[in-house]
This record gives sequence, structure tokens and C-alpha cells, in this order.
Amino acid sequence: MVSNMKSVFIVFYAILLASSIHLTNGSYEYFRLVLVWPTTFTTHVHPNYGMTIVNPPNYFTIHGLWPTNFSYPWPQYCSKKRKDRFDASLLTQALEVSLNYYWPSLKPAKKNMQFWIDEWEKHGTCSLQRFNQFEYFRNAIYITYNLNIQSVFKNVGIIPSGTKTYSYINIVDAIKTKTYQEPELMCFKDQNHVLLWEIHVCLNASLTGYISCPINNFNNIILCKKIFIKIPV
Ligand SMILES: *[C@@H]1O[C@H](CO)[C@@H](O)[C@H](O)[C@H]1NC(C)=O
Ligand SMILES: *[C@@H]1O[C@H](CO)[C@@H](O)[C@H](O)[C@H]1NC(C)=O
Repeated sequence: MVSNMKSVFIVFYAILLASSIHLTNGSYEYFRLVLVWPTTFTTHVHPNYGMTIVNPPNYFTIHGLWPTNFSYPWPQYCSKKRKDRFDASLLTQALEVSLNYYWPSLKPAKKNMQFWIDEWEKHGTCSLQRFNQFEYFRNAIYITYNLNIQSVFKNVGIIPSGTKTYSYINIVDAIKTKTYQEPELMCFKDQNHVLLWEIHVCLNASLTGYISCPINNFNNIILCKKIFIKIPV
């Protein structure tokens, strides 16, 4: 517990240091860290993506870290300049190892690197005023690692299962034990069940604190609120 707190502190301190160097106003207002439950994605949302991923990760992986606005439209593809394109040489080997683990492509036809390129161009370029490419990816990893959704769920007895179901409130309350702020859940309806698909947690523009996610009325969010949710294995 103590060492956990300490690592959280060190990480946030490191992020604060990195971000204080470029304190200009961004073209976005806050961040959404979007985590995906791989089994739901690979076997239900996109079951026929050319091939099947045989053993999807059994932990939440990153879909993206999105610089977002409180109202629509949300920023995307914020720079097409050559100098702002994804540059693989800016990833350290250690960061790439972490990205392969926490931010894998869940589409068999798409390489991990291509997924990072796509996310960088669509989203990462929108927070370039604050975070360069290295900082952007490193911060996504640090936050996901520290959030540690698996252990948060385990602590309150939420486990992926072929049979168990949980309410929206059960799952949200578990996440709030760590963030103290409202996350947002997205679900997917297969024939018989509503499955947990994504967890969105929101952070302020400098990535130094969680904020409550502004309420969206996406169908996939409303769906989770209606009925008990399964986290499929
Ligand atoms: C997002 O918000 C920022 C700051 O308020 C603004 O400058 C930017 O134009 C907005 N982006 C979009 C796509 O509306
Ligand atoms: C982000 O949150 C931290 C901690 O609550 C706060 O100190 C900081 O001023 C906030 N930054 C922005 C840009 O909102």
C-alpha cells in the first residue's frame, strides 16, 4: 500500500514536471483515457476482423488517450504537419515494451505500431501544446499502470466471469475507490447479455488529476445503465 502510494506520487510528480515545461493553452479541455476489455472487443464487437485473436489479454488495455472538449465537436487530427507525424524513433525500448503490453492492437490485421500511429494522429496531436509524442505515450502508460483496474475490481470482488453480472453502480463505485470521480462505462449487447466493453476515466488537461467525465448520451453508455453487466472471460 505504502509503496503503491509512493509510486503514484512519483508518477504524478514526473508528469507534473514534464507538463510544466509547456504550459500553453491547449486546443482541448480535458483528457479521456479509454480502456477496453479485450474479450468483449475481440469476440463480440469485432469478431470477424479477418482473423481471430487467439488469446486476448486478460486485463484492460488502452484504446486511447483522447484530448477532449466538454462540448462537441471533439478535437481530432489536430496537426498534419510533417514534423508532428508519429516518429517511431522517439519511443525508447522500455516504452515500446510497455506499449506492447498495455496498448496492443486488438485487430489482428493491424500491427501495434500502426494502432499507435493512428491514435497519435487522430488524438495525440491535439495535446501537442502540452505533451510531445514521448510524453503522451508515457503518460498513458503511467496512468493505466497506476489505475490498475484489475486490482481495483479484485478488491471489491468484481471478477471477469462467464456467469456473474454486476450493476453499473457496482462497477462505477469500484473505479471511484481509486479515482474519486465519475467514470463512464460503455457496453455492447450480444444476443443474450450486456457486456462491459470500455471504461472511460477523465483527467484534467495537464493529466495531474482525475475529474468526473461529462455525461454523454451514447447508446452504448445508456445500455450499461439499464441492465446487469457481464465481464466475459
Ligand atoms: C476545444 O476547446 C478549445 C478550448 O476551449 C478550443 O480552442 C478548440 O477550438 C475546441 N475544439 C473544437 C474541435 O471545437
Ligand atoms: C489538474 O488537477 C490538479 C490536482 O487536482 C491541479 O493541481 C491542477 O491545477 C489541475 N490542472 C489543470 C490544468 O486543470
